[in-house]
Amino acid sequence: MKGPLVLGIETSCDETSAALLRDEEELLAHLILSQDVHQVYGGVVPELAARAHLRVLDDVVDRVCAQAGVKLADVDAVAVTAGPGLIGALLVGVSWAKAVTFALDRPLVGVHHMEAHLFGPVLENGEAVPPFVALLVSGGHTLLLHAERWGEYRILGQTRDDAAGEAFDKVAKLLGLPYPGGPAVERLARDGDPSRHPLPRPMLKGGGRASDPEYFDFSFSGLKTAVAGRAEELRADGTLEAERAHLAAAFQEAVVDVLVAKTRRAVEVTGCRRVLLGGGVSANGPLRQGMEEEMGAEGRVFRASPRLSLDNGAMVARAGAFRLRNGETSGLDLAADANLPFPGLVP
Ligand code: KG4
Ligand code: ZN
Repeated sequence: MKGPLVLGIETSCDETSAALLRDEEELLAHLILSQDVHQVYGGVVPELAARAHLRVLDDVVDRVCAQAGVKLADVDAVAVTAGPGLIGALLVGVSWAKAVTFALDRPLVGVHHMEAHLFGPVLENGEAVPPFVALLVSGGHTLLLHAERWGEYRILGQTRDDAAGEAFDKVAKLLGLPYPGGPAVERLARDGDPSRHPLPRPMLKGGGRASDPEYFDFSFSGLKTAVAGRAEELRADGTLEAERAHLAAAFQEAVVDVLVAKTRRAVEVTGCRRVLLGGGVSANGPLRQGMEEEMGAEGRVFRASPRLSLDNGAMVARAGAFRLRNGETSGLDLAADANLPFPGLVP
């Protein structure tokens, strides 16, 4: 007998996405609509994001159903991102999912957006399962955690200020690049020499022992300020244009160095040599390469293709299917929560 058909809905930020997943692994259809209304503002405008989700969500779902050749009534459960994210944007997806599951009398499963990012790689590689050390790097979060099994997570470190993706976006803005900044910085950095503008590696020095509070944590706002200062000097010299690629490369190298070094520490402390990269920043080529080099032949690095690393409904369907199998469904009182805490934390 075939396993359940789960519809996954993602509306936490500026992507409206839906996916149909059969039996936890067979992706029947998947659509991601990136909102372009934000581009002229250089960042996501929450109110515009919510309105855009509202306008297109019905159509996005209709199209994945058509692609998969199923009707909405064939769906066995609906999984939806309940948080964290932009509250207005989340509310659109959560309200839609509640209405549909109520009307069809099907289970509703609220999903944590960052836990869903952990489920991106396994959609393409069945071996990308716990135990692993995971580095989750997105526009809103930077988390280092250890998972012995799905649903049980020990957080080792997180950012104390800006998220890694946020730093990419802010540096892109400083360098006159479009939003989202990560891919634009990566592209520009290809022509740059990172050694021309030495930048700090925040929170790497000093933290020599796992018991030190800084050992696993991240901080990117000082690095962004260092880039801003350097850009200002170069602008004053009239050389910013010529040095932009070098500065982008120096920034990217600093971020990658820190992310790789902290993940290495997590591997050493946990003894787990399987590393999973998740979240939008894991689409970054040098980060993936740096991590693979660092882990060497004895380790494994799992990462999804960019489509499944950036925000998408397939990972939400997959995380929801896991919860559904455990009998963990949500009631109609499921609330969108901009600051939803990470589920299943163990000390
Ligand atoms: O996971 P995601 O799609 O959305 C959130 O949950 O936040 O991550 C988006 C973030 C943005 O900050 C974007 O600039 C960054 O991921 N990003 C990248 C790359 N592609 C996306 N950062 C560095 N290099 C990339 N290639
Ligand atoms: Zn995300």
